[in-house]
Amino acid sequence: MSFFKKLFGTAAKEEVTMSKLNIGIILGSTRQGRVSPQVGQWIKEIADQRGDANYEIVDISDYNLPFLGTTDGSEPGIAAWNQKLGELDGFVFIVQEYNHSITGALKNAIDFAREAWNNKAAGIVSYGSTGGARAAEHLRGILGELLVADVRVHPTLSLFTDFENGSVFKPQALHLDNVNAMLDQVVAWSGALKTLR
Ligand SMILES: Cc1cc2nc3c(=O)[nH]c(=O)nc-3n(C[C@H](O)[C@H](O)[C@H](O)COP(=O)(O)O)c2cc1C
Repeated sequence: MSFFKKLFGTAAKEEVTMSKLNIGIILGSTRQGRVSPQVGQWIKEIADQRGDANYEIVDISDYNLPFLGTTDGSEPGIAAWNQKLGELDGFVFIVQEYNHSITGALKNAIDFAREAWNNKAAGIVSYGSTGGARAAEHLRGILGELLVADVRVHPTLSLFTDFENGSVFKPQALHLDNVNAMLDQVVAWSGALKTLR
């Protein structure tokens, strides 16, 4: 028996039956010709191989959200968006850099919910000429306000070396370890934060 086990004893194993966490892979861009579906699909394929959570792609453009505050709020997409976020325990944001920040579409979608974001975890996968790093850092500030715990590991993809002609996604193999490390943290923190809700 180890020194510490002798000192502290062995904790009784608790039988906890937990259902799998639901993690949404949120596509941050909505423009025609966007590359985010390719990146989101790549993340989902890696994630599905892990089998440690239910992963699904969540496409902002499916919800036809109006610009916040410009309508009476009765569009069904607004309620559906909140309901979808409410079903999720954690997120992976697919973030593209637009003028050194996130897209207006993603910010608008984020602003359309509040409690549905709270006490959940998120990872960020970004792309751009400098790996989308500036957009990702802006997103971290926004997530803090919404009580979303963003994890440290952050895969950054280059428009020059991970895409052909900036449009066909061909990720370098070196990103795989980083994606899995990011998912490890998202799953761990999503599970931990579930106990707060
Ligand atoms: C309005 C706009 C602004 C952009 N600004 C930046 C920028 O500041 N930095 C950068 O690295 N890439 C910038 N880009 C390039 C995008 O990162 C690139 O087009 C990327 O593919 C966009 O993601 P999407 O295809 O999913 O829409 C910009 C693209 C657009 C459309």
